[in-house]
Amino acid sequence: MCGVKCITFLLWINILSVKTEIPGFEFELTPPKPVIHVGKDLKLTCRVNACPGNVTFAWRTLLDKYHGGVSKNERTVSHLLIKNITVKHSNIIVCKASCEGQPKQKTSQIHVFSFPQDPVLPELKSLIENQTQKLSCIVHDIYPLEWLQIKWLREDKTLFVDKPHYVGDYDDVQNYTSEFNYTPSVLDRGKNISCRATLSSTEFGLNETRYSIAEYGPGTITTSINNPSVKLGEHLEITCHADGNPKPTILWFKEGNEPALQSQNEKLIISDASWSQAGPPNIPKIQLSHRGDPKEGENISILCSSDDGSAELTLYRQSQSTESEALNKSAVLLKIPSLQITDAGIYVCEAKNDFGSERSTINITVAAQHNVMKMPDLPVAILPIAGSVSLLTIAGLLIRYCRKKARSNSSNIS
Ligand SMILES: *[C@@H]1O[C@H](CO)[C@@H](O)[C@H](O)[C@H]1NC(C)=O
Ligand SMILES: *[C@@H]1O[C@H](CO)[C@@H](O)[C@H](O)[C@H]1NC(C)=O
Ligand SMILES: *[C@@H]1O[C@H](CO)[C@@H](O)[C@H](O)[C@H]1NC(C)=O
Ligand SMILES: *[C@@H]1O[C@H](CO)[C@@H](O)[C@H](O)[C@H]1NC(C)=O
Ligand SMILES: *[C@@H]1O[C@H](CO)[C@@H](O)[C@H](O)[C@H]1NC(C)=O
Ligand SMILES: *[C@@H]1O[C@H](CO)[C@@H](O)[C@H](O)[C@H]1NC(C)=O
Ligand SMILES: *[C@@H]1O[C@H](CO)[C@@H](O)[C@H](O)[C@H]1NC(C)=O
Ligand SMILES: *[C@@H]1O[C@H](CO)[C@@H](O)[C@H](O)[C@H]1NC(C)=O
Ligand SMILES: *[C@@H]1O[C@H](CO)[C@@H](O)[C@H](O)[C@H]1NC(C)=O
Repeated sequence: MCGVKCITFLLWINILSVKTEIPGFEFELTPPKPVIHVGKDLKLTCRVNACPGNVTFAWRTLLDKYHGGVSKNERTVSHLLIKNITVKHSNIIVCKASCEGQPKQKTSQIHVFSFPQDPVLPELKSLIENQTQKLSCIVHDIYPLEWLQIKWLREDKTLFVDKPHYVGDYDDVQNYTSEFNYTPSVLDRGKNISCRATLSSTEFGLNETRYSIAEYGPGTITTSINNPSVKLGEHLEITCHADGNPKPTILWFKEGNEPALQSQNEKLIISDASWSQAGPPNIPKIQLSHRGDPKEGENISILCSSDDGSAELTLYRQSQSTESEALNKSAVLLKIPSLQITDAGIYVCEAKNDFGSERSTINITVAAQHNVMKMPDLPVAILPIAGSVSLLTIAGLLIRYCRKKARSNSSNIS
């Protein structure tokens, strides 16, 4: 039935089949389903467990795209290192191993994802009870979008779940903004709202959650006064503390006045709020440049100052207009060169604002200068120098001395 040719053929078939079925030729490719974040490095390993002869390896992608990796072969193991994974590396990689020229292949399905940071809740004006406001939460650099889910919560209660619509094939990371119309009620007061973003895939065993919290609910406001029985003109501090996120804007009003009186303050806590903007200014301070009583002929200056930046300062001699020099917003200076007896009197420092004025005064007395010039004992002094000093000069000195004396005696001020 079967001649020599036939037997030869069967033998050849047999050899071929033996060659096809190399016993014990097995290999593995790990990991088979890597899920890896953008920017990371991935190492795939192709390992032949048993092969009686030489082994060769080849790496490629299923669609014959460039895999961008570098391979390194040892006798029975080959590694493929792909550095700095990008979205474009989401692909199927094939490792082809040949034992004695007999090829086999295995695949690894790479899934790249990107979820680098917590969602961002942009600042917005504080919420008002019963008023609907659009809240938004931004998740940056997400991939793949279809794995994303955003949950809005008030404390533990879910308010809204947002699952992005499938928006077609994207081959890069993208930003996603979840928007939610929120109507705060009295129940929300002081409670936190959070935006919880989850990137998950049951198939690939990924389940990452990141979230951001905002105290979006209407806040609470407390005020306190440093000293409730403060007298007018004394320093008064009112602290306004407001809870809320974003930080509430605080406006100061004087009761009955429609427009906001004082500055807006974005801070959560306003401290050192001086009431001077709504009442009379602080009492200003008046000082003399000198210690002790000034003397006739001296150059003096009077300083009027205030720690109340909102008040306008003036410095003058009582019942007279005087020119003073403004140093800055909180001080004015009056210079009196060569002080005269007639400069003695009351000087007024006045601080004034829209709500009133406060004054401080100083009583300046001028001490007469008795020893403007030392007169020598006349007979002794004049005789030796009579020849060289003209009598006119001496007469002049005498006249000036007497005048000075007369002026001094007429002023009985200390
Ligand atoms: C394995 O390869 C080496 C060099 O590439 C060759 O010399 C050797 O004969 C091969 N062995 C087998 C069993 O094919
Ligand atoms: C990784 O790849 C990104 C995008 O191609 C590039 O901007 C970045 O510089 C790379 N980083 C490193 C460490 O090579
Ligand atoms: C908000 O609405 C509720 C119910 O309508 C009402 O009782 C409450 O007074 C409202 N709050 C404000 C601040 O208007
Ligand atoms: C995502 O948002 C960031 C920051 O606003 C921006 O720099 C980046 O270009 C955005 N990316 C895309 C894909 O629009
Ligand atoms: C609200 O969130 C802030 C942090 O943003 C936290 O300090 C505060 O305790 C939270 N309040 C509640 C009631 O959970
Ligand atoms: C992700 O983990 C949370 C708990 O940590 C679980 O409630 C949720 O069902 C998980 N999601 C998926 C898709 O596995
Ligand atoms: C007063 O100031 C003038 C110039 O400003 C100066 O010449 C004079 O010496 C000063 N007098 C005294 C007593 O300091
Ligand atoms: C204003 O001038 C006075 C006197 O020179 C000085 O003591 C004070 O520090 C100044 N104030 C400011 C705000 O510059
Ligand atoms: C200012 O002081 C002088 C001398 O001490 C005194 O005689 C005078 O009455 C005082 N003036 C006032 C208004 O107090």
